[in-house]
Amino acid sequence: MASFDVIILGGGPAGYICAIRSAQLGLSAAVVEQDKMGGVCVNIGCIPTKALLHSAYIASILKESKEFGVEVSNIKTDYGVAMKRSRRVSDQNSKGVEFLMKKHKITVIKGTGVVQPGKKMKVGSDIHDAKKAVVIATGSRVKGIPQIGLEINKTTVISSDEALLLERIPDSLAIIGAGAVGMEFADIFQAFGVKITLIEALPRILPIEDAEASDVLAKSYRKRGIDVIAGAKVAKATVGKDKVTLDIEAGSEKKQIVAAAVLMAAGRAVNTENIGLKECGIQLTDRGFIKVDKNLQTTAPGYYAIGDVAGPPMLAHKGFREGSVVAEIIAGQKPHAIKYDNVPSVTYCHPEVASIGLTEDQCKEKKLDYVAGKFPFSANGRARGTGETEGFVKILRDKKYGEILGAHIVGAHASEMIHELAVARENEYTVEEIDLAIHAHPTMSEAIGEAALDSLGRVLHI
Ligand code: NAI
Repeated sequence: MASFDVIILGGGPAGYICAIRSAQLGLSAAVVEQDKMGGVCVNIGCIPTKALLHSAYIASILKESKEFGVEVSNIKTDYGVAMKRSRRVSDQNSKGVEFLMKKHKITVIKGTGVVQPGKKMKVGSDIHDAKKAVVIATGSRVKGIPQIGLEINKTTVISSDEALLLERIPDSLAIIGAGAVGMEFADIFQAFGVKITLIEALPRILPIEDAEASDVLAKSYRKRGIDVIAGAKVAKATVGKDKVTLDIEAGSEKKQIVAAAVLMAAGRAVNTENIGLKECGIQLTDRGFIKVDKNLQTTAPGYYAIGDVAGPPMLAHKGFREGSVVAEIIAGQKPHAIKYDNVPSVTYCHPEVASIGLTEDQCKEKKLDYVAGKFPFSANGRARGTGETEGFVKILRDKKYGEILGAHIVGAHASEMIHELAVARENEYTVEEIDLAIHAHPTMSEAIGEAALDSLGRVLHI
């Protein structure tokens, strides 16, 4: 039996950051991981998808390069090659996490862990002891919809796990769910020549984003030949050996879609089974997440939960921050509280979508006195130069105090630009203070300054 100050179950973003921060604070830490270090994000999530999205981007810009004075003939795409590159990127990142564990003298225990009463952790036949705390960071997994016959079979009904490892792509693919996963894979596979049907149950794609962001994306995807069907329910699925038939109901309209494969992108389930929660007195919420208090402590004192298992949003950067904060709490510090409405959301499709805070519909629902400042990239010099004029920046400004109620960016590099607004919101800067910062010219970020000005009634370039 080995003894550590902190034992963390799960080596994904939340878990490995918790271990690093614990070590920085002088605590001895162990991470129990049954697979590769880095979790879903590094191995079958964020990192490999971003590599594939870049391959997709290259394919798309090459198709239009003639206009830029660069003519390329016989453009051939090969998903297998792109996939293998994405695997190398993933492996490099996973090895990077292993290196970080060694650097910080963190013990990695390989195996499946089960939490035990008395702040203990069982891995195989070994029982390890946590002197200060046990942290649960077991993450989440893809899920099918077995109720309508859509169980992941890894051939005709696949999840992102399989999509990331395909050597060859299907001719046609129906994607169920237009959240981040559905949007990103529609982008990737369309660029590699797959006929895509994107089906979303809610009235618009990317339903958690601002309605105007959804509109731009729907228009852009349709222009590229993606069949976007929103407000549609899959009533029945008939899964064959080499095709799947979906009966779709969109309002009173009924139609059938036949595709070589279906990609399930309708949300994820958290990994809370068979890890000893009940035996330790750790309760779940009605929605199946681990119940935590404001310090991320579970219903059992000395046991914490972080990352996807601790509740939405299921995002790596939210897990990173929770990992860090919990380590500080365990070490006896009083960290800056996490403001969950300041967690940025990013979808890395083309054009990218990034946001923070409230949507315009939410401002209306809350009956807030706001003004929407908006600036389109079509009026931005840098965007015109690169030919990436799709999208806009929108800032929702509280009329009385100038507070940034929400900010929405659709366009190239939106994922990078959102952080100006993240810093501003976390520090409670006003929209007026965004304007005070001089934005370099010509940059895409100028659109943020212009959207701020627009909300003040003094936009300059439109
Ligand atoms: P999601 O919950 O974000 O989106 C699933 C979508 O599927 C929803 O819009 C939902 O309305 C729709 N849906 C559910 N059942 C359906 C049905 N029967 N028919 C049609 N549509 C249906 O889940 P997603 O995209 O699978 O992602 C899982 C988690 O991983 C999310 O929390 C997401 O934020 C995160 N993630 C984040 C990424 C990023 O930050 N770029 C990338 C990928 C995933």
